Amino acid sequence: MIIAIASDHGGYQLKETVKEYLRTRNDIQIVDLGTDSEESVDYPIYGKACAEAVASGKADRGIVCCGTGIGISIAANKVKGIRCGLCTSVEMAEMTRKHNNANMLAMGGRTTDPDLALEITKAWLDTEFEGGRHKRRTEMLDEMC
Ligand code: RB5
Repeated sequence: MIIAIASDHGGYQLKETVKEYLRTRNDIQIVDLGTDSEESVDYPIYGKACAEAVASGKADRGIVCCGTGIGISIAANKVKGIRCGLCTSVEMAEMTRKHNNANMLAMGGRTTDPDLALEITKAWLDTEFEGGRHKRRTEMLDEMC
């Protein structure tokens, strides 16, 4: 699975932590779309870049981080075909895969402890979509933009 990953300055440290974990998995290839430091940048640019990588098929799924995960998830969800879930717990990560078939995960570098963020990442990567009635609903989402 190809994972695109991006952040602004507020999510930079968490992005690097998540990348370290992803590198330990031999089923994952990483495409890092920046940013590359804690120098201030604009999160919409990075959310859009990661979302476009997923929407175009260059990546299978995407992970984005900003200070809270809010701004960068809003940016990602403006790209057609993207279902980006902002998760602050393992349960949310599981549900956003099971029910929402989220193809992107957002997390907050200033709001989520790094150890918890890794548990969230693992759950999100390894939980399958349940399909069935949830497929009709995700299709409705995809028709919106
Ligand atoms: C940047 O200071 C901060 O606003 C950004 O990382 C994010 O939290 C926005 O939602």
